[in-house]
Amino acid sequence: MSSASRGNQEKGPVTITRLAEMKAAGEPIVMVTAYDFPSAQIAEEVGVDIVLVGDSAANCVLGYDSTIPVGMEEMTMLAKAVRRGLKTPLLVGDLPFGSYEASNELAIASAQRMVKESGCDAVKLEGGGTSVDRAKAIIDAGVPVMGHVGLTPQTATALGGLKAQGRTADKAVRVAEDAISLDRAGCFSIVIEAVPQAVAEMINDRLTAPTIGIGAGNVTSGQVLVLHDLAGINTGKMAKFVKQYADVRGELKRGLSAYAGEVRSGAFPGPEHVYSVEPSELDELRQRLSRENSGSDYSWDWEPLP
Ligand code: KIV
Repeated sequence: MSSASRGNQEKGPVTITRLAEMKAAGEPIVMVTAYDFPSAQIAEEVGVDIVLVGDSAANCVLGYDSTIPVGMEEMTMLAKAVRRGLKTPLLVGDLPFGSYEASNELAIASAQRMVKESGCDAVKLEGGGTSVDRAKAIIDAGVPVMGHVGLTPQTATALGGLKAQGRTADKAVRVAEDAISLDRAGCFSIVIEAVPQAVAEMINDRLTAPTIGIGAGNVTSGQVLVLHDLAGINTGKMAKFVKQYADVRGELKRGLSAYAGEVRSGAFPGPEHVYSVEPSELDELRQRLSRENSGSDYSWDWEPLP
């Protein structure tokens, strides 16, 4: 493991208490999304602190054009796969749009389902207002909740699109009130998305819970990015706050093109990719096949390949 990817494995599984200690010590919290088993294994190996099975899976792996259509069934299936690859980071499952807004009962049922079926340690939900009541109800029912304020993609249409929030005093006060209410409701952490750094700083200073920023500058207790954005798997116009650290899509394209080229040219498979067989076994096979072709009722005696 490189020094840039210091692990947290030696300290054991990341807990909510550990996150609070990290905030107190000014130790940045690293959070990333993951939607499948290999990505979870990589997050484990690198030693991130929190893995979020974000509803951004809707866009990143399910091909929807927003996070609105993804449902509990899909989210729990993805979260289960992530759980299998993860031991140390805290695992948070996003509650998808429509799974918690209507009532506290629905919110509790969805949160408990996410935790029971997928093995997530906590859930995340978006927004203030009634979401604060939902968060409190879920917490009272025994499931830790991460809040999410600022740009909340599930309600982006109502917010005027996928754009920065809190850029006027009026609007910033609303973001701050949402964050403070979620903090008071007992959220163990709060994501602040797409808010000017100076605004995020004022909000951050008023909260007890560790904050995780995405497009909120470097004033929060930690940072989150969508794995497919930072790894260069997603294409197209990226949000201002995205930094691309790798070109996984380019690498995959290079590999797949090379494979296709070699299949078409006959270069693959090469001698190193084929199984061998003893000449005596081949001779016997030839004899048996010729008896078969000559119409005998000889029965086949297949053995499984090694
Ligand atoms: O769904 C998601 O990926 C998120 C993060 C961007 C915080 O909510």
